[in-house]
Amino acid sequence: MKDGYLKVEQSPALAGEVELVGAKNAVLVIIASLVVTAGKSVLHNVPLSADVFEMIELLRHLGAVIFFNTEKHELLVDTTTLHSWQVSSVLMQKTRASILIMGGLLARFGKARVGLPGGDAIGKRPIDYHLKNFAKMGVVIHHEADYLCADVERLVAARIVLEYPSVGATENIIMAATRAQGATKIINAACEPEVLDLIACLTKMGAKITVEAPATITVEGVDVLNPIEHTIMFDRLEAGSLLIAAAATGGEVFIPDADAGVLDVFLLKLEEMGHTITIGENGKGIHLKSTQTPRAVSLKTGPYPGFPTDLQPPMMALQCFASGTSVIEETVFENRFHHVHELIKMGASIHIEHNKAIITGVERLYGTHVVAPDIRASTALVIAGLVAHGTTTVSGLSHWKRGYEALEKKLQHLGANVVVHEAQNEKIMVFDMVRQAHHERD
Ligand code: EPU
Repeated sequence: MKDGYLKVEQSPALAGEVELVGAKNAVLVIIASLVVTAGKSVLHNVPLSADVFEMIELLRHLGAVIFFNTEKHELLVDTTTLHSWQVSSVLMQKTRASILIMGGLLARFGKARVGLPGGDAIGKRPIDYHLKNFAKMGVVIHHEADYLCADVERLVAARIVLEYPSVGATENIIMAATRAQGATKIINAACEPEVLDLIACLTKMGAKITVEAPATITVEGVDVLNPIEHTIMFDRLEAGSLLIAAAATGGEVFIPDADAGVLDVFLLKLEEMGHTITIGENGKGIHLKSTQTPRAVSLKTGPYPGFPTDLQPPMMALQCFASGTSVIEETVFENRFHHVHELIKMGASIHIEHNKAIITGVERLYGTHVVAPDIRASTALVIAGLVAHGTTTVSGLSHWKRGYEALEKKLQHLGANVVVHEAQNEKIMVFDMVRQAHHERD
């Protein structure tokens, strides 16, 4: 098999306590944001997921000197020697998050020449909100073959109205605006916790940023931004996935690191299913005790604080064997139902009407071979495999690894029968990444 796969067997009720890593979607943009500074920064709680290694590669390519202490999850990034504002198509294609380098490059150099970004095939995923709002800040952009070339003499502040609160566009505009002349206002901005972690980080650098209700972010440009030390927020999506896995198997789990305040609607839906959620003091720490008779619930994904689209696929897997009918409406991405066909192969009863999936709970799912086409679909299929009769093989291991740092080990720790089978070339890739990280320390 070209890609590796996960082999999942029906598992007992998951039980125990489990730790989280830092949030992939916070760390990617925070690493990219370091290009606005010139100096040595330190990030803590950095997850060892494949997308993080790609972002590190991208910054190295621009001239940053980076040491990743993978044992301590500590990343040292020296941007003093940054000398380039160009990123090849090959590097840009590795992730979607690569586009987040543009805002920082414009702030640092007033220039960016980058290929078009890659990423999961969960929709068209255009970047028009990024580009047209850079243009409002005085940036001149043109296409040269597969490259985007952006130039600006001096970034100017603008009043930016986003027609949709795009996470990536909000982050890119904020980064560019840190060095613009005047105060940039972003109306209908994304206020995901990962965006707020970026803001916390930029504020430490010396940026002047305020967030006001309902969703306005104001960034006053400054002349200099300094290197920082920052601890990445815990991954709410990893927390959600572990809670769903425990609920699916009728188990009981405690996640001390989890912040309940960033998962409210998701936790509400688990409670409506009949699961008991207990939250620790100050909202820190989530305990889930499953019901043995889960009820189907309906939900609609939306920008934060709505139900997170990234938890929609695993939550759908959970509805497949709940009692009753669930309607899941996906409003963020137009094509995030690739897991549906695979769940049907496992015996689920699902039909799609436009952007809605209608799921009728069945008695049981059956293990078979399924394909994970994106990160969160891989989570859904592994979770379905934990309850399915027989063996489930989930190919598309590279997606699983892009999103998570060894999530299979955490599931194993809770009692799950899930094993990773590496493709030969992936073994080499991971070995190379870790060896390189250690080599640079020596
Ligand atoms: N959109 C546009 N034009 C744009 C930008 C976005 O039409 O210029 C549309 C998108 O096509 C999509 C919607 O707006 O339909 C939302 O996209 P958004 O820009 O908010 O998403 P993103 O920044 O590309 C980040 C996460 C995703 C997460 C979404 C939504 C990162 C690296 N990625 O993507 O994470 O699903 O926000 O919360 O932060 C994942 O982790 O598996 C993942 C896909």
